[in-house]
Amino acid sequence: MSGHGTPIPMTARAGNPLKGTADVPGDKSISHRSLILGALSVGETRVTGLLEGEDVLDTAEAMRAFGASVERQDGTWVVQGVGVGGFAEPGDVIDCGNSGTGVRLIMGCMATSPITATFTGDASLRGRPMGRVTEPLALFGAQSFGRQGGRLPMTVVGAREPVPVRYALPVPSAQVKSAILLAGLNAPGETIVIEKEATRDHTERMLAGFGARVGVEDSPVGRVITLIGQPELKAQTIVVPRDPSSAAFPVCAGIVVPGSDVLVPNIGLNPTRAGLFTTLREMGADLAYENLREEGGEPVADLRARFNGSLKGVEVPPERAASMIDEYPILSVVAAFAEGPTIMRGVKELRVKESDRIDAMARALRAAGVEVEDGPDWWIVHGRGADGVEGGVVAETRLDHRIAMSCLILGLAARRPMSVDDGSPIATSFPIFETLMRGLGADLVRA
Ligand code: S3P
Repeated sequence: MSGHGTPIPMTARAGNPLKGTADVPGDKSISHRSLILGALSVGETRVTGLLEGEDVLDTAEAMRAFGASVERQDGTWVVQGVGVGGFAEPGDVIDCGNSGTGVRLIMGCMATSPITATFTGDASLRGRPMGRVTEPLALFGAQSFGRQGGRLPMTVVGAREPVPVRYALPVPSAQVKSAILLAGLNAPGETIVIEKEATRDHTERMLAGFGARVGVEDSPVGRVITLIGQPELKAQTIVVPRDPSSAAFPVCAGIVVPGSDVLVPNIGLNPTRAGLFTTLREMGADLAYENLREEGGEPVADLRARFNGSLKGVEVPPERAASMIDEYPILSVVAAFAEGPTIMRGVKELRVKESDRIDAMARALRAAGVEVEDGPDWWIVHGRGADGVEGGVVAETRLDHRIAMSCLILGLAARRPMSVDDGSPIATSFPIFETLMRGLGADLVRA
């Protein structure tokens, strides 16, 4: 559970160039799904490389509450599943901490079982919309009772006799897509989800890996995903790849801090996740994909980021938004050190993340001397060039790990230090961020 402890102020200032290798932790999305699908399988799932961040640990705890056994044994996470439809009713409230992925996916997988569960989270998560998940879950026959605006705490009463669903996503959200597919597991027949824009596809891929019948077709209406309900999922051995969304921080630090040369090995370049790296290259960043190879059917590379002091602002195509949705805060930092404006459109979803990320970054950047314009679903950062950002601000992180890390990276290249009021949310997704950045030579302290 995050956000319950004492705030941890942190400060980053310019100093040495960043040099060396940054081994980032496991992928957050795949870590949640490994535990959840392991819990829904028959037998023992073994997971290595799991992200041991607060968000994922909260999901591990939730899986125990629904009856699965989840243990860490010498660095391997071992899940004894209860099988599709085997969830027990939890004896207490499920606290998903800061994690939208955790709560939405777990609501999905209990919504077609005849059990009731109440969900809550930290102040950030309690402010986020759940109606986007409970509306499609109602079509399966589940009921939900939450606060105004579909906010947590919320009780979900699972369907006794679930029916399969066909649903076109009104928002581009992998969490909503995944909640529906996970609910569809325990409904007889075909559950179909249609998405206009491709969002991260880990649930589809992993469900197939666990033995479910899942079809994906591109059609004129978008990607059509069809799942045949009531499979027996078979326990798997999973090696979680490293998280491209965490890699983004040392990569972007290497790009904006003068003299830097940073290697971030073994990063997946699944096209549904890699939009930031494409954008950075379009901006003229020196970002190389070294040792490009295929692993488990997915492109993987060692990312090498070097400072070259010649970034240009770009217009990011809106259709790329889903593939870099978590990376806009750190992109806005890189944009601040570029020449000219960086225009980001089609990003309404940023307003309902762990914080309103457009507002949080716009305020921090403006206070640091960078002009930012913003509207409901767009923003423009007017770059000030490689050494033109003033800094000298204490930014509010609003229980949002990515705002905290982005503002600290800004401080590593600004003229004056940048502080954050609370760096503790970083532990939700990137618990080794401080040590890793210091290992590269960053002047980053708790103060
Ligand atoms: C995630 C989906 C995205 C992303 C989040 C992880 C997932 O959220 O922002 O960090 O694992 O499915 P949305 O589905 O709300 O876009």
